[in-house]
Amino acid sequence: MSDKKQSNAMWGGRFASGPDAIMEAINASIDFDQRMARQDIEGSRAHAAMLAQQGIITDSDADAIREGLLTVLSEIDTGTFQFSKALEDIHMNVESRLKELVGEPAGRLHTGRSRNDQVALDFKLWVRDQMDAVVLGLEALMKALLVQAEAGADVVMPGFTHLQVAQPVTWGHHMMAYVEMFARDRSRMQDARVRMNESPLGAAALAGTGFPIDRYMTASALGFDRPSANSLDAVSDRDFALEFLSASSICATHLSRFAEELVIWSSAQFKFVTLSDRFSTGSSIMPQKKNPDAAELIRAKVGRINGSLVALLTIMKGLPLAYSKDMQEDKEQVFDAADSLMLALAAMTGMVGDMAANKDSLEVAAATGFSTATDLADWLVRELGMPFRDAHHVTGALVKMAEDGGVDLPDLTLAQMQSVCADITDSVFGVLGVHNSVASRVSYGGTAPAQVRAQALRWKKELK
Ligand code: ARG
Repeated sequence: MSDKKQSNAMWGGRFASGPDAIMEAINASIDFDQRMARQDIEGSRAHAAMLAQQGIITDSDADAIREGLLTVLSEIDTGTFQFSKALEDIHMNVESRLKELVGEPAGRLHTGRSRNDQVALDFKLWVRDQMDAVVLGLEALMKALLVQAEAGADVVMPGFTHLQVAQPVTWGHHMMAYVEMFARDRSRMQDARVRMNESPLGAAALAGTGFPIDRYMTASALGFDRPSANSLDAVSDRDFALEFLSASSICATHLSRFAEELVIWSSAQFKFVTLSDRFSTGSSIMPQKKNPDAAELIRAKVGRINGSLVALLTIMKGLPLAYSKDMQEDKEQVFDAADSLMLALAAMTGMVGDMAANKDSLEVAAATGFSTATDLADWLVRELGMPFRDAHHVTGALVKMAEDGGVDLPDLTLAQMQSVCADITDSVFGVLGVHNSVASRVSYGGTAPAQVRAQALRWKKELK
């Protein structure tokens, strides 16, 4: 069933008929790549200026093109632009409208370039903007965590391994752990940005061009460090998008872990944290419910972001050089991942800004589960000169005694302790309290409030 439409106005010279409707449906990318309109127009304006400077087109043609492109942009911005599926993608939609607006000069814009370098350029510009936006989003989240960390630098809470109480830590220390993770996510985006910042424009279809273009001029006009050095590579790789997606996946993994902790911590069983009404929802049947939906959705977003990464890796795998249409499938993956990540970052920042650490529940929880047993063992080593392995054994016996008696370690009497190890003195009780425990952990990067404050201050300066 062929539909006898006219052949494509941009490339239809050798075509007798237009595409089948199904062909148009599978081929067109305009429904999604219109998100790159601003980048497309920016790239074309730089290209036109360069063509004029190199004497490839006249100044007056370049002026008409550059002005006309601004009109197209404002039509798109104000929503009056008519996108056409028959024109396939954003590149041909813009150029076709430019032709309507300025006439013949529009046909000279595509000199010395191809849609292959054009799409690589537009997509790079789009991804680069997103990398910058993610960096800003991460910085906002880090700042919110720093406020929590400083306010809770000496609020004691249980530190877990295997989700079993391990040793007391501070709320501030826990918040600062995420500051470090999000800082590495930020630097991953920044590293990737440096690596990708080469302009593909002028690589043309795949082989470069015979026109005397100046690729350095367009590269610098568009904020790139240099033009890419190989035209085949420039039009055929999407590793910059893969790096964005992999850095996004790692960041989303961090967000997901933190979100999971907030879900657990806000439960009635833990009561470590109170989330604000602004970032919770109610139940339509159970009136008492306040659900951590934002945290749950952040926890889940990593699924789609990882999916996008795997999808694009799979799309790119096995593609021969140079451009193949497969690569058109790159955009929806990246758009969706970027939207998901930005939303998750914003929601997490809002939640962290609003949430309240429940000091009392945290301290009670910190003191249960024999959390200062390591402090006791360390005391035996320090004060009695016991080898650590023996101290571990003695402490284990004392924990068993406390457990059997249904009490915590500081509740044992001195006599009870001495029945296990005769040399223990009264001063042992000094290390069994959770505040003493955290205050003693002054090693660099440790949980002592002084350490936490120093780290928070360092990050505050860095982010100023
Ligand atoms: N819409 C295309 C894409 O997203 C633009 C490049 C088309 N190039 C081509 N030779 N058909 O990849």
